[in-house]
Amino acid sequence: MTTDYLVIGSGIAGLTFSVKIAEAFPNRTVTIITKTNEEESNTKYAQGGVAVVLNSKKDSFQKHIQDTLIAGDGLCDAAIVEMVVKEGPKRLEELMAWGANFDFDTLGNLDLGKEGGHSEYRVAHHKDITGAEIERALLAQAHQLKNVTILTHHFAIDLITNHHVSGKKPKKNACYGAYVLNQKTKTIFTLKAHHTVLASGGIGWVYGHTTNPVIATGDGIAMAYRAKAKISDMEFVQFHPTALFEANGESSFLISEAVRGFGAYLRNTSGERFMPNYDERAELASRDIVSQSIDNELKKTGDTHVFLDCTHLDMTAFRKHFPNIYKKCEAHNIHIETDWIPVVPAAHYLCGGIDVDVDGKTSVHNLFACGECTKTGLHGANRLASNSLLEALVYAHNIFKYLRNDSCKSLDLNIPDWDDEGTNTPKEQVLVQHNLRQLQALMRNYVGIVRGHNRLKKAIKHLDLMYAEVESFYKASKISTPLCELRNMINVAHLIINQSLERKENKGGYFNVDNVKKQTELL
Ligand code: FAD
Ligand code: SIN
Repeated sequence: MTTDYLVIGSGIAGLTFSVKIAEAFPNRTVTIITKTNEEESNTKYAQGGVAVVLNSKKDSFQKHIQDTLIAGDGLCDAAIVEMVVKEGPKRLEELMAWGANFDFDTLGNLDLGKEGGHSEYRVAHHKDITGAEIERALLAQAHQLKNVTILTHHFAIDLITNHHVSGKKPKKNACYGAYVLNQKTKTIFTLKAHHTVLASGGIGWVYGHTTNPVIATGDGIAMAYRAKAKISDMEFVQFHPTALFEANGESSFLISEAVRGFGAYLRNTSGERFMPNYDERAELASRDIVSQSIDNELKKTGDTHVFLDCTHLDMTAFRKHFPNIYKKCEAHNIHIETDWIPVVPAAHYLCGGIDVDVDGKTSVHNLFACGECTKTGLHGANRLASNSLLEALVYAHNIFKYLRNDSCKSLDLNIPDWDDEGTNTPKEQVLVQHNLRQLQALMRNYVGIVRGHNRLKKAIKHLDLMYAEVESFYKASKISTPLCELRNMINVAHLIINQSLERKENKGGYFNVDNVKKQTELL
């Protein structure tokens, strides 16, 4: 199969790019592949909203830029921050023109929320289900375009690069599409593309305890890594401070940061409101600080969770803004009017990823990337809340702008089909599940919010053993999605641990006890 534009992922990043390029070139084909149903993505679960400067009387681009730079703890690219922040209002307007609904106040202005690290109210939202609304609107838009095909339950196994081409190879390492598994027919086919865009999302599932859905297995990052693309800032895994605590729970429901923006307090099990002891912004300090503070409280007390206290808030307004969170808590027998919500930090977002330039170009020719799988320079060491949806919109647009001027040259390369000769269907899949549990426990216990060199080194040793076992199983087995995902997660874990070991200074979301010792010695 050949397409003009191959887009891997149907979240906000992939859909936004697809809609724009398909509208601009009705005679060119856009093929989106997505590994489960079309709406399943991190995007679908986004709650708080999109950070955009809209109230120019109180807010300004400069304030949003400053808040982003502070959250990023010195590691943001200032020019990128400025570009993204300034693009924000136009990109939100476009999204609304495509039919995405956002909440308005009684005066007819967008109702803006506030979250950690923001000095102003600037988060545009649709109740507490902003992501689901964006996903709905973008899918509806994509369905109207005849030149967009969405292949659901199709899994990208690997990118096709020079390494795969037989005969004379082009000089520059480039991407020519992907090998794709049709999960229903269990067949693998070659999808050649003039341009490939990775929009494959995050990695939360590497930790198991995460706000992300199970699709977040870092496939795009692992594929790009195998294709020799540059990957960086993988040590900056962001832990959201307030996932609903459920004993034995793996996937965690998020209690939006906007709830703290609405005035909720964090309390430890003794009832003490502890955040003012850590930061003058208290509950509205940036996410890295709040998560590290909770981690410290839990270590001090030996407790499994802290609490979010909403009992003093206006419940009528709360239910209007956060109907989904209210309902979810009710279902867990937590009555927010009277009960504190048990919460605990959980892996939430990856600030690093595939290096891209301002046009979304990776270091592999003809391979572009946008959304959570990328490192653009916007987030630095810690992403400011609600800057992720914004980044995805802006970079999908930037790739569109760049490719608008690019032709779709014919691909007359000799690309062999996927070769699985000599592989067998494994008798049992238990090895995959077993290794997955081990990997997730390893990442939680050794590569969590607070890290140390010894633990990181031990983690690498364990991971190397796992890698060897899974790699030999992979080489001997017929391809399956769980096996490929496990392999990808091991790749991603390697990148996180190795890049953690390389970081000699604590910044933002990266905290290593051994770096603290070194920094103190230097003083
Ligand atoms: P995703 O939306 O995750 O989409 C990835 C797509 O790639 C999916 O369709 C997936 O199936 C597909 N895919 C992956 N691998 C493969 C493969 N191998 N083959 C085929 N398809 C593949 N950010 C904000 O800015 N504001 C918020 O309020 C906010 N709230 C959040 C709340 C939650 C609970 C979570 C989890 C995240 C939140 N975020 C928020 C972060 C934000 O939602 C994500 O970073 C963003 O939606 C990522 O969009 P994306 O398009 O890059 O990836
Ligand atoms: C939230 O609503 O707390 C999530 C916001 C984000 O991840 O940006």
